[in-house]
Amino acid sequence: MDIIVAVDEKWGIGKDGNLLQRISTDMKRFRAMTTGNVLVMGRKTLESFPNQKPLPNRVNIVLTTNRAYEAEGVVLCHDLADLPELLKAYEGKQVFVAGGGSIYAQLLPQCERAYVTKIYHTYPADTTFPNLDENPEWVLAEKGEVQEENGVRFSFDVYQKMK
Ligand SMILES: NC(=O)c1ccc[n+]([C@@H]2O[C@H](COP(=O)([O-])OP(=O)(O)OC[C@H]3O[C@@H](n4cnc5c(N)ncnc54)[C@H](OP(=O)(O)O)[C@@H]3O)[C@@H](O)[C@H]2O)c1
Repeated sequence: MDIIVAVDEKWGIGKDGNLLQRISTDMKRFRAMTTGNVLVMGRKTLESFPNQKPLPNRVNIVLTTNRAYEAEGVVLCHDLADLPELLKAYEGKQVFVAGGGSIYAQLLPQCERAYVTKIYHTYPADTTFPNLDENPEWVLAEKGEVQEENGVRFSFDVYQKMK
C-alpha cells in the first residue's frame, strides 16, 4: 500500500473538512496515478468530495464504524482488520491510502511509499499528517522540482520506508 497526500510546511493536510489548498496540477496527477486503482479513505474524506460522491473509475474503499452507513458506488469497510481480506479482490491494482488524517495515521505503518505533494506555505489546519522528516523509518527518496501555480509553490516528493 502506498500513501498519497498533499501537505503544507508543517504537515497540515486539512481544515474544516476541506483541503488546505487546491492545486489543479496536483489534482490531475492524483487522477492519473489513482485511476484504475484502489483508494482507501475515511468516511469524512468521502464526504469532502464533490456531492459526497466517490471518485470515478477507481475502487473507493471507505472506512466507517457506522454499520448503517450507506453510500453509492463505494466498498464499505467497518474494521481495519478486514482490509487485507477486502484488498485480495483487487490484486494487481495499486492501493493508495488517500486520507484523511485518522486513516493516514492508522495505515502509515503498513505502507511502503508515500507520494507527498509538499506545498511551500503554512495554512491554518486542524488535521495533520505524521511528519516523515522526523520519522527515522522513512527517507526522502525523491525530491521533485519546485513548481508554481497561481503563486503557490509545491513539489512532488516521494518518501520510502526503510527496509
Ligand atoms: N491533503 C490531503 O492530501 C488530504 C487527503 C484526504 C483528506 N484530507 C483532509 O483530511 C480531513 C479529514 O480527515 P479526518 O481525519 O478528519 O477524517 P477521515 O480520516 O477522512 O475519516 C474519519 C472517519 O473514518 C472512519 N474511521 C477511521 N478509522 C476507522 C477504523 N479504524 N475503522 C472504521 N472506521 C474508521 C470513522 O468514520 P465514522 O465516524 O463514520 O465511524 C471516522 O470518523 C479533511 O479536512 C480532508 O479535506 C486531506
